[in-house]
Amino acid sequence: SGHALLAGRKAVVTAGPTHEPIDPVRYIANRSSGKQGYAIAEALARLGAETHLVSGPTALPDPAGVQVTRIETAREMLAATEAALPADIAICCAAVADWRADTSTNSKLKKDGSGQIPPLGLVENPDILATISVAGPKRPRLVVGFAAETDDVIGYATAKRQRKGCDWIVANDVSPGTGIMGGDDNTVHLITAGDPEHWDPMPKAQVAMKLAERVADALTDKQ
Ligand code: C5P
Repeated sequence: SGHALLAGRKAVVTAGPTHEPIDPVRYIANRSSGKQGYAIAEALARLGAETHLVSGPTALPDPAGVQVTRIETAREMLAATEAALPADIAICCAAVADWRADTSTNSKLKKDGSGQIPPLGLVENPDILATISVAGPKRPRLVVGFAAETDDVIGYATAKRQRKGCDWIVANDVSPGTGIMGGDDNTVHLITAGDPEHWDPMPKAQVAMKLAERVADALTDKQ
């Protein structure tokens, strides 16, 4: 579109899963495709924002007009996201692994035939959304998180907005059967300081464009 509603703005977007190594050949991961986050980065760039996408491992090509940093772990994602600040807008779409192995080893774990199972200890990963939402000189003016829920979507998403300290939460229902995880369509609710907004089901690319336009409105205080 010819409308450079976000010209002169800087945006950072996280997307995809993270991979947390257990040993050189094994890792903890999840089923995030990265589709929604990539679409959002592309939409922000199309509206003229200088857009930096920090992505975990995905099968997707780099979106047009976007600077992409590919990382593997949550800790790498946090470092790359912080390196992309200051920015006006941060949108955290990534499905960051909540935990990583406490002892990632450089040697492959071996089955020794004794039936002994190696203990897998976990430690918590940093929360990127919560970290960049903390007030400070580098906090983006608008920080947006995502919430994938299966029950009481609005209730949990509203609580998540408070807990994370972000400005908006884009909430979706990922119950089995919705086809949202890995699918091309999305049904979302936008949780702001005001009343929740319920958006019709639409392709992820359209969710992205509508969200980018809402972001532009918010930054121009048009409401
Ligand atoms: O806590 P939960 O994973 O449900 O929150 C989801 C939101 O928090 C998403 O916006 C996700 O990108 C972000 N998040 C994060 N870092 C984490 C966990 C979640 O940025 N370690």
